[in-house]
Amino acid sequence: MRKVVFVLVFVFMQSLPAYSGPGAVRCGKLLDVRTGQMLSDQTVVFDASGTIISVGPTSATKRPSGVMAIDLSNSTCLPGLIDVHTHLTGDPANHGYSRLGISVPREAIIGAKNARLTLRAGFTTVRNLGAHGYTDVAIRDGIDAGDIEGPRMRVSGPPLGITGGHCDNNLLPSEFHYKSDGVADGPWAARAKVRETVKYGADLIKICASGGVLSKGDQPDTPQYTLEEMQAIAEEAHKLGRKVAAHAHGTQSIKDAIRAGIDSIEHSSLIDDEGIALAKQHGTYLVFDIYNDDFILQEGAKAGMLPESIEKEKKVGRLQRENFRHAFQAGAKMAFGTDAGVYPHGDNAKQFGKMVEWGMKPLDAIQAATVNAADLLGWADRIGVLETGHFADLIAVSGDPASDVRALESVKFVLKGGTVARNDYASK
Ligand code: ARG
Repeated sequence: MRKVVFVLVFVFMQSLPAYSGPGAVRCGKLLDVRTGQMLSDQTVVFDASGTIISVGPTSATKRPSGVMAIDLSNSTCLPGLIDVHTHLTGDPANHGYSRLGISVPREAIIGAKNARLTLRAGFTTVRNLGAHGYTDVAIRDGIDAGDIEGPRMRVSGPPLGITGGHCDNNLLPSEFHYKSDGVADGPWAARAKVRETVKYGADLIKICASGGVLSKGDQPDTPQYTLEEMQAIAEEAHKLGRKVAAHAHGTQSIKDAIRAGIDSIEHSSLIDDEGIALAKQHGTYLVFDIYNDDFILQEGAKAGMLPESIEKEKKVGRLQRENFRHAFQAGAKMAFGTDAGVYPHGDNAKQFGKMVEWGMKPLDAIQAATVNAADLLGWADRIGVLETGHFADLIAVSGDPASDVRALESVKFVLKGGTVARNDYASK
């Protein structure tokens, strides 16, 4: 058997822009996230466009000559992770009233910082669910143009919601006449807002179906958008080729959103058996941000969250975790989403440990953040697995994430579309 001789190219994280494909990565172990099989000594080869052209045993791989070769023979490789619920332009430093002092341009800068942190933590794709002034569209486009570093992004632009709801901002008294960009009441106003949001570059639509924790003056278990409004939104968005993600904590709102044809339920905190059954019947993804509760209860008050938010969190946090376990055991479709931005970006992977603590096996949690998330994003043909024809989005860790999922909290190597974004092994 001919052993491929690997030349190590030391790509230091400081020396960006990093080298990009064509190239090859040799993995000591490689987790097939579809089957859970842990394969030994595999080589992933990718072309100049950053697309995988082969994956297989190193001994059987013909590596094109003169291309970058990265030796990860002491580590475990898996596909780049996907977080389907982030707020890259939000920071835990700006909760509550201090958020009002952040301008739209400043928010864009914050987003650029967090995009890099997120990518370096191993998340090569995110779905960003809500930002002011289309800052998310600008960040997505800046990343795609190579101006700044960050994950692939699917973005929603401003989230749609009712006057005074979770997607409005209710901190100022009436003489300021403030309302958030996405406020739209009634089916036709909501349809018009979908059109406007798509016009300015959104890949999908985010709405607030129920009240929330971090908003002022509403309750997580109270419905906001009506069934009729959500039907109009879902129909309009789908007609324009866009999916819809609904923030919904409340039992009724979750069911209304699913019945209206919404594609994913964010938070899903107070879902009941009927809601779980409906989600299964409609193929709706449930996204439970179950790490959040720890941060809000431990750090929220210091971070400037309103006292009422801490009280609301105490009511939903534990129930959300119990319902996560319940929905998983009942076989509902789940995707990994964290709501990062509420807590620090780059800590996204801390949720994996919670998912295992609350009933999943490590592989289930990893599938939620790879194959399932890719399916929800409509990108199953390009991300979520290490297979020919998919982007060379690959991460590596030193431990074995299939037995200890917390290994994903210490990602050592990140490749996005054949470009090295992080390589801690090389800098030793
Ligand atoms: N953005 C969400 C809200 O304000 C955060 C909810 C966090 N709590 C939780 N248990 N996941 O409603």
